Amino acid sequence: MINHTDSNAFLIETDNTSYIFKVLPTGQLEHLYYGKKLTVPEGAEEENLDALTEKHAFYPGNTIGYDQEHLQYSLEDMRLEMSSYGKGDIREPFICLVHADGSRTSDFVYDSFEIKNESLSLGYMPASYDESGKAQTLCVRLKDASYDLLLELNYVVYADCDVITRNARLINKSEEAVQIDRILSMQLDLDRAGYVFTTFRGAWAREMQRDDCLVTGGKHIASSMTGTSSNRCNPFFMVHPIETNEDAGEVYGFNLVYSGNHYECVEASAFGKTRICSGINPESFCYRLDPGESFDAPEAVMTYSREGFNSMSRNMHRFVREHIVRGEWKKKTRPVLLNSWEAAYFDINEGKLTRLAKAAKEVGIELLVMDDGWFGERDNDSCSLGDWEVNPKKLPHGLKGLADKINNIGLEFGIWVEPEMINEKSKLFEKHPEWVIQIPGKPHSEGRNQRLLDLSNPEVQDYIIDRMSTIFGSANISYVKWDMNRIFSDYYSLHLEKERQGELAHRYILGLYRVMKTLTEGFPAILFEGCSAGGNRFDLGILSYFPQIWASDDTDAMCRLAIQTGYSYGYPMSTVTAHVSDCPNHQTLRITPLETRFNVAAFGVLGYECNLCDMKKEEIAAIKAQVELYKEWRETLQWGDFYRGKGSAAMPSVSASMSGTAAVPYSSDNFSEWTCVSPDGKKAVGMVMQRLVVPNSPFHCYHARGLKGEALYHFYNRVLKIDVREFGDLINTASPIHVKKDSLLLDIIAKFVKMDGETEDVKASGDTLMEGGVHLKQAFGATGYNGEVRHFQDFGSRIYFMEECE
Ligand code: GLA
Repeated sequence: MINHTDSNAFLIETDNTSYIFKVLPTGQLEHLYYGKKLTVPEGAEEENLDALTEKHAFYPGNTIGYDQEHLQYSLEDMRLEMSSYGKGDIREPFICLVHADGSRTSDFVYDSFEIKNESLSLGYMPASYDESGKAQTLCVRLKDASYDLLLELNYVVYADCDVITRNARLINKSEEAVQIDRILSMQLDLDRAGYVFTTFRGAWAREMQRDDCLVTGGKHIASSMTGTSSNRCNPFFMVHPIETNEDAGEVYGFNLVYSGNHYECVEASAFGKTRICSGINPESFCYRLDPGESFDAPEAVMTYSREGFNSMSRNMHRFVREHIVRGEWKKKTRPVLLNSWEAAYFDINEGKLTRLAKAAKEVGIELLVMDDGWFGERDNDSCSLGDWEVNPKKLPHGLKGLADKINNIGLEFGIWVEPEMINEKSKLFEKHPEWVIQIPGKPHSEGRNQRLLDLSNPEVQDYIIDRMSTIFGSANISYVKWDMNRIFSDYYSLHLEKERQGELAHRYILGLYRVMKTLTEGFPAILFEGCSAGGNRFDLGILSYFPQIWASDDTDAMCRLAIQTGYSYGYPMSTVTAHVSDCPNHQTLRITPLETRFNVAAFGVLGYECNLCDMKKEEIAAIKAQVELYKEWRETLQWGDFYRGKGSAAMPSVSASMSGTAAVPYSSDNFSEWTCVSPDGKKAVGMVMQRLVVPNSPFHCYHARGLKGEALYHFYNRVLKIDVREFGDLINTASPIHVKKDSLLLDIIAKFVKMDGETEDVKASGDTLMEGGVHLKQAFGATGYNGEVRHFQDFGSRIYFMEECE
């Protein structure tokens, strides 16, 4: 709901939050409040606003008084909805312009407003959308006091998600061009300082590591300069008091519907206020706005909860599922796939892929994905990107021949492409060197031996649309993995005038969106999966076109625990793809139990990425059981509400588990919990995972989340059979004859003798499961083993099931 009052205040309400600002006597917009929904008796609205308004009599010493008529107002110490550069607010600006006369001062003051019953439309740039017809947009128009420039601030309200989105549009009404050095999407000024700025940082193979930074003074910045939203720092972030935890306390969550260089800043001012802002990274950005043109800043997303991080995440999850992800796959069950990458890397061919497909069919997998290596002369990563023609030596019957074979085996067929890239060793490069991002005549830096195509150039966009349409239409392709494997360097476009080179990074992203929009609309039945060296472009812009993203090239279950926990703060698990791979793991050489690899991957969109043809019979049997189980529970796992339990802290306090000393029994750093609850609350899946075994600490508890407090649930596990080899030569404590470790005899025994795993089977109320927790069967503690003991080694985990009793 959006209200405008007689005193020129704007009240935006969602189901549980209020957002309030008003027009100051100087014309700027003063931010008054964003937090828990305020209930106000009818008729008391104006007085109520007075309580929220700061009272100004004199401007503070050594600051700037706005003008002679308003000397009490210093913009430096006011909570503003947007701040322009040059009129005394020396904090982080929202907008920085260079006018035709050389001046860099702007002063946007209130002009008018409009309330629309619709969401935003930003051309090819994606924006949130609404199918329910309930979304409303408040557009507040500001006018520069000295130049003919209009700035529209838009606020879209998604009441049931407790989400408000913001964006800004600058319109040049003047006769002269204006240079935009910065235009952000969101600014929020809060009363006090000392908030924690939580970001999700990392690098290749270790995306989304939570980082908490207390901001008591100065500016703290999170940003990307990779040309993508980046694995170095995701655009999703949180701001909260230090005491907030998963289940209690205030938290603001923010994101940006954008896939390029972004910028987030939290600043504690000299006067003890906090400014939060986000948008396109102003670094190296410079955009010429000609007379009559307008510029749209991407949409920023804001939510607030006073019930902890989990509750904030659920707002974001609902919002992403309902208002970002679109198309046929929005709510469609995602298939279990087998990807050829870690199974064979570049060494693929029709025979190998059909054998993989047969093995996949055996275990119940539904889709075979042919990854890199199928086109040009692509036997390694040094050539052929750009040459999207099938390699006839590898696929003698072409894409169609292979797809038909895979379909006949009973699987869907999917392919990998990396359309934004080109190798210097390619026919395309020979033909169109001018289509590449490079500085003419200057040496170029390389990333994975490849260059970026210049997607700011419509000719290049058309070429990609054309080539990909031909490929996607040439066979029965049900799935496409769209990769992007290098970051930007040597920014320069031969397509743009030299004065416009500062626009390249942004225009590239707009070009990409045009390509994505055209192809996803042209092939609505294809399930597209985004990928950028894993999670180098995991953001709401990509999710507006592709419903899921490959979260990381790191498939190690231990690493994935942290990575997927990181994503879960801002993104629903239906968008996060996760694969079970072989061990020793290809990124870390770590060995983790197959069950743990499954348990972690099952909380995302499950796939396998290993050579099933080389696997032992027992492993195949285990995978078959996993796939069957996943299919039984995937509606809950893909579409349920996800909750983090223990083990989500940013910085493990003692890091005991990581250092290998594992000295702290039951430390939450060493033990993680996840729960996923079906939308109706009747079913749930829980997971516990321990990093390292802590000796002599066998009693663990699992606490569910999100259940119906009074309902009675049946809590149970999947009873596993444990391979005797897991116990090494401890077998001799039970065996009547001596059995040598690693001997043939032990292998033979292992074939016929399995140890019983523990059974969990209780009935308890939702409240009991959540508050008291389930006290699990005792873990192995070196004093004995039987079917009542949990075999729980390093990286051990379990999943549990909860079903409401009728
Ligand atoms: C990237 C992706 C991988 C794989 C390779 C293929 O690294 O993230 O999953 O597709 O490219 O070259």
